[in-house]
Amino acid sequence: FIAKGKKYWGTATDIGLLLNNTVNEAIVRSQSFLIIHKLTPENSMKWDIIEKTRYAFNFIDSDYLVDYARSTGKLVRGHTFIWHSQLPSWVSAIKDAATLTEVIENHISSVGTRYSGRVYSWDVCNELFTAEGTMRYSVFYSVLGETFVSLAFNAVRKYDQTAKLYINDYNMVSNATQRFLSMINHVKTWISSGVPIDGIGTQAHLSAGVAGDVQAALSALAGSGVSEVAITELDIVQASPSDYVTVTKACLAVSACVGITNWGVSDKESWRTQDKPLLFDNYYRPKPAYEAIIAALT
Ligand code: G3I
Repeated sequence: FIAKGKKYWGTATDIGLLLNNTVNEAIVRSQSFLIIHKLTPENSMKWDIIEKTRYAFNFIDSDYLVDYARSTGKLVRGHTFIWHSQLPSWVSAIKDAATLTEVIENHISSVGTRYSGRVYSWDVCNELFTAEGTMRYSVFYSVLGETFVSLAFNAVRKYDQTAKLYINDYNMVSNATQRFLSMINHVKTWISSGVPIDGIGTQAHLSAGVAGDVQAALSALAGSGVSEVAITELDIVQASPSDYVTVTKACLAVSACVGITNWGVSDKESWRTQDKPLLFDNYYRPKPAYEAIIAALT
């Protein structure tokens, strides 16, 4: 953060919004904005972009993002290896454990090795839990059971010794939900059995008026035994200045919280554009929430 020097404010972006949208790119590049110094690829590091066809890797978009970050002095949050969504159908169709294990290892070794030393962190597993707190159905879970978690984290650690390894999920603001409790219990168990989990990411695609719960949630997540937590995909319905300031202060108040990533720059390109959840409007003008955050930080 601008005032504290240590924590980051980042954004999700990708090649299209950097190469073909100069106004957006200028905001991302600008150090006068809230020190955006971490970038998360919104889509370019997902399995269906990088390895849509088995063993045919396409790094064009992800290389662009990583090179852009390096040339502009920013860090990268890698997103994401194991996710049930944006997963090619050839992976979803695998039925046997040996093949799936080999495919996961190969995917992680190819991508992990390529970006080793160039990403700050990886979302190794994304959205593993249901609202009821059970493990979500996916090809990973149905073929390998919970062991895919250990397999994935250990593989990423093997090919990238420096990145912080995260487990990431949504709807983890109220610390009383089954998904939230399940995340904490599973992470405790996995860490105690040696799975190299460094951090928990809470996506924080928030409704209006719930920001007051974020600080307690961050503290509880940090209490699971990870060394850090982060808000990884923040956007807030209608982007009220007080909600944004409350979330910002929550991260500042929790020492394990390393930073906040906004899920985009302008409402125009947001995945939920109708909710106007970001800090810049459809014309790339800073909104009141942006000004309020600056005021709170300085
Ligand atoms: O790449 C194709 C393109 O070839 C095609 O012409 C176009 C036509 O619709 O679609 C393009 O793919 C789209 C992709 O974004 C890239 O733009 C997909 O249809 C679209 O579904 C996809 O949406 C992304 C979504 O994840 C997919 O689940 C959003 O941009 C992205 O913001 C969103 O991000 C997720 C996080 O990864 C995980 N947490 C939730 C978050 C919001 O859903």
